[in-house]
Amino acid sequence: MRTQVGIVGAGPAGLMLSHLLAAHGIDSVIVETRERSEIEATIRAGVLEQGTVDLLVETGVGARAITEGAKHDGVQLRFQGEGHRIDFAKLAGRSVWLYPQHEVLKDLIAARLEQGADIRFGARDVSLRDVTSDAPVIAFTDADGTPVELRCDVIAGCDGSSGVSKWTIPESERTDYFRAYPFGWFGILVEAPRSSEELIYTHSERGFALISTRTPQVQRMYFQCDPEENADDWSDDRIWDELQSRVAGGGFRLAEGRIFDRGVIPMRSYVCEPMRYGRLLLAGDAAHTVPPTGAKGLNLAIADVVVLARALDSFFSTGSTELLDAYGPTASRRVWWAQHFSWWMTSMLHTHPDSTPFDVRRQLGELDLVTSSTAGATHLAQAYTGWPLDR
Ligand code: DHB
Repeated sequence: MRTQVGIVGAGPAGLMLSHLLAAHGIDSVIVETRERSEIEATIRAGVLEQGTVDLLVETGVGARAITEGAKHDGVQLRFQGEGHRIDFAKLAGRSVWLYPQHEVLKDLIAARLEQGADIRFGARDVSLRDVTSDAPVIAFTDADGTPVELRCDVIAGCDGSSGVSKWTIPESERTDYFRAYPFGWFGILVEAPRSSEELIYTHSERGFALISTRTPQVQRMYFQCDPEENADDWSDDRIWDELQSRVAGGGFRLAEGRIFDRGVIPMRSYVCEPMRYGRLLLAGDAAHTVPPTGAKGLNLAIADVVVLARALDSFFSTGSTELLDAYGPTASRRVWWAQHFSWWMTSMLHTHPDSTPFDVRRQLGELDLVTSSTAGATHLAQAYTGWPLDR
């Protein structure tokens, strides 16, 4: 079997890449170890940058994001019991959209399948071969048990943080930049009305909390916890006590309701460099992971494949590798901006187990500066709504 671009992984990066390539008449096959049902049901973050939404709409897969998602023109930073609004529309001239990642994936999968794309869900034993040759191979076992060798011109490794692609780059050729955080996020989905029109990022003595939303009837909330915490050990009452103790105050209280989903999310920062090795190009979480604060993960994956799709279009139409050579350095610039932003938001808002009274006062000073200075608030607004895509 052969294709022009073999894509490992049907997450945001892989599906969007396949979608963009199809618009340029470039053939791709996606090999994915998970089942379609699992991909479409896995709860992830829900914030789309303005540029991501614009791209979805312009390429014909944004209709539901616009009609079922919600536009947000600001967020609140809450500390010392008071909320402070960051006005995105005024400061950055841009907005974000609340629309869950798995819904974006549903839209992309439906569009790709409707165009006759070949997506191999439920693949096993995926491995990459000959990636430094001009005919690299994705070897895997198909869902029905048939061994397949997919010969490609180029392989895009879009298989997320635990995929095989990046490990195909020999250790001697690779640098792994890694940081683990000494906390995780306890995330819940709740049947309750909205407590706030806009997202609330809270700094408190008991730790960070985030109040987000899915629909007028379903809310998404998170609070900082021990990374080893077992979500099932917590009663609903204990969860509400913890959230209210961090967020409530000054006449504000969260609307409570039935908790119907819960889990603990690890927090880490990671970058693999280079993003290209021979004919293998990494994109999305396969190349980098950010902690969730600020919701950059999906948006960064989309930004990568915008650059990659253009490079591949140039390669297939002219034979020149100039843009493919530039892919890593070009994409990496935004990756490190987003790494800094995600680390910064995380550090500014979370309680660190070994933090001193000095560290806490410094955090509060920083939050005060960011919310009261136009320069500080503008930086946050521009980073949060997303720097313009390199299109
Ligand atoms: C959500 C997740 C995030 O990481 C974030 O910063 C904001 C919102 C969410 O799941 O809604």
